[in-house]
Amino acid sequence: MAQHGRWTNRFSYMLAATGAAVGLGNIWKFPYIMGENGGGAFVLVYLLCILAIGIPIMMAEVMIGKHGRLTPSKSAAKLAQDSGHSTKWKVTGWSGVVAGFLILSFYVVIAGWAVAYAWFGFSGAFNDQSPQQIGKLFSDLNASPYPLMGWSAFIIVGTVIVVAKGVQKGLEKAVNTMMPILFVLLAIMVGYAASTGDFNQAFEFMFAADFFKLSWNGVLIALGHSFFTLSLASGIMTMYGAYLPENTSLVKTSVYIAIMDTLVALMAGMAIFPIVFANGLPAGAGPGLIFQSLPIAFGQMPLGQWFGGGFFLMVVVAAFTSSIALIEASVAWLVENRGFKRWQAAVGAGFIIWAVSLLTVFSLTGAPWTKLTLFGDVQTTIFDVIDYTTANIMLPLGGLIIAVFAGWIVDPKISQATIDTHPTVYQLWRIMLKFIAPIAILAVFFNLIGVL
Ligand code: PHE
Ligand code: NA
Repeated sequence: MAQHGRWTNRFSYMLAATGAAVGLGNIWKFPYIMGENGGGAFVLVYLLCILAIGIPIMMAEVMIGKHGRLTPSKSAAKLAQDSGHSTKWKVTGWSGVVAGFLILSFYVVIAGWAVAYAWFGFSGAFNDQSPQQIGKLFSDLNASPYPLMGWSAFIIVGTVIVVAKGVQKGLEKAVNTMMPILFVLLAIMVGYAASTGDFNQAFEFMFAADFFKLSWNGVLIALGHSFFTLSLASGIMTMYGAYLPENTSLVKTSVYIAIMDTLVALMAGMAIFPIVFANGLPAGAGPGLIFQSLPIAFGQMPLGQWFGGGFFLMVVVAAFTSSIALIEASVAWLVENRGFKRWQAAVGAGFIIWAVSLLTVFSLTGAPWTKLTLFGDVQTTIFDVIDYTTANIMLPLGGLIIAVFAGWIVDPKISQATIDTHPTVYQLWRIMLKFIAPIAILAVFFNLIGVL
């Protein structure tokens, strides 16, 4: 398994796993879906999903990897076999490959936006711009496909190079220094937004739960996002868990990763919404939300050129460490099942990602063939459909299978020994996986379909 890299100690495992978790999901996606789903009640459901479903499933995935010490489907097959069951349970590994691949196809384009905005920031494009001008900067960026293809190429090529070489010391070091900088910059932004923006309205929007504003579809989006943001059901946590150093607490590290991830998401919200409300922007602006709001503040604050460029640079780094995790499942699969060398698999996957990313690029530029009309006359684009189905259908379904597998199929003696924690914590984890997680996921699905 040397081709997949190795964590030298608990610290490098934590860095890699936190780097995979913290990404566009926290800074780009969480604020925009929160805005579209009315705020407070959505946030509350999201936090509940992280706590009651996300963390237990993360522990289950790491447990599968730690027991098997192989790639996700093989680890799952081994664990099933050791528990006296069919190796068909390896399906848990397989569905993650497809989901991760589709997510990456739009992820690189959004990360490309961030590359463009880092450049805009440093070159002074935000300075003294009105909200209208900032809005135009964004619509201009999406007016034609070529710039979008160019900016996202940075991310695709960078990801392929790092993945081709295997997990790099250099990358670990980069994450090590960039993550604290991202935190500090986010804290500065929250402070700035609090002092100049409409912090009270933003705070109320995010934390006053009004359940009339939340639909069942909003609940599904909160559930799906808890998987997306923690990088669950995409094979990644199983993969990283396969290299978990022996003396590392699976429970503590999972909780820690979830806390870091949640903190970054909430801070991003508190940085963005005060600016959104103070400038009369719509909270439900959609995927462009952070790109249309934050630059207004950067353009007015002292040293905004550096803060703006620096902030989006950190977003690029956060997105980059997640892209590497996202491509890993496909690359490992190609190496293991199609006999490719690692660099061949990386370059091949990069090309396919690039081709599929064009679906998102042309959706953003408004090409007519990317526009779809769904049942009930809903107007949407191919990008929206990929974004919605991966996070809200594929990941929760994958999570459901993992929960059933770890909770019902795996021999409790094995899971208890592998998780290696206080018996009460273990029992609690098992109850969450056996009952709470599957029932919650199924209830949300059925409610949406209208069966319940
Ligand atoms: N967790 C990442 C984010 O929040 C996205 C991701 C999903 C990464 C699945 C890896 C696997 O941006
Ligand atoms: Na995340």
